Amino acid sequence: MSKKVKPYKDSEATKKAQVTKMFDTISKEYDGLNRVISFGIDVKWRKKVVELVKQKQPENILDIATGTGDLAINLTETSAKEIIGLDISDGMLEVGRQKISDKKLDSVISMVIGDSEDLPFEANTFDAITVAFGVRNFENLEKGLTEILRVLKPDGIFVILETSVPTNPVFKLGYNAYSKFMLPAIGKLFSRDRVAYKYLSESASVFPYGEQLNNILRKIGFINVEHKPQTMGVATIYTASKA
Ligand SMILES: C[S@@+](CC[C@H](N)C(=O)[O-])C[C@H]1O[C@@H](n2cnc3c(N)ncnc32)[C@H](O)[C@@H]1O
Repeated sequence: MSKKVKPYKDSEATKKAQVTKMFDTISKEYDGLNRVISFGIDVKWRKKVVELVKQKQPENILDIATGTGDLAINLTETSAKEIIGLDISDGMLEVGRQKISDKKLDSVISMVIGDSEDLPFEANTFDAITVAFGVRNFENLEKGLTEILRVLKPDGIFVILETSVPTNPVFKLGYNAYSKFMLPAIGKLFSRDRVAYKYLSESASVFPYGEQLNNILRKIGFINVEHKPQTMGVATIYTASKA
């Protein structure tokens, strides 16, 4: 199981409460800083997720940990008539709601407050479920994944986009230097929450990736589990289904 890294080390609050507070605080700067720290490559990765989901021709999609809704918005390029973006942080959702309203996508996307570990939906509801850069923030990863399996329809598609660590030693050196020093420095300079970007890099370095995360998905009960490292392995896209 992954080591539990919390944003505020001197706080007694649960990881969930701390993560919610942190994302509420950085919600207004999130989109801008996200583009900067990923050099804009996150846009390309989300597009790949959309292509995978599109192939399933879904009627409805649940985007968990939707944040400010970028992936939910991109998913309107699929055949889905209903897209629900769910997140635990109302601050992030509020930024997303504004973007959705500006793009006049309110009739397709609804932004719902909720917890991935206790999803407010019936079993076998969604044709496709996505989580981008969300699973490593779950307080209890296995509980969240079990809930996702419950609400996914049989033969539905589950796609995770998450940070990972390059396996090539040279890339790994560069990645470590960037995430250990550059990322927290950018956060310190530009963020309203000085520890947030330190947490984001620390949580990425200890989170299971590749075959390790595949095995967790299989243990929960997902089938057809596969992963594809992206951009030298700094992120990975996982796909899985339900029997
Ligand atoms: C790094 S952001 C990713 C946002 C968006 N998916 C993206 O690709 O930009 C992580 C999001 O996970 C949300 N989150 C963390 N724990 C959650 C939980 N238990 N249930 C729902 N959302 C959660 C946070 O509030 C935050 O908006």
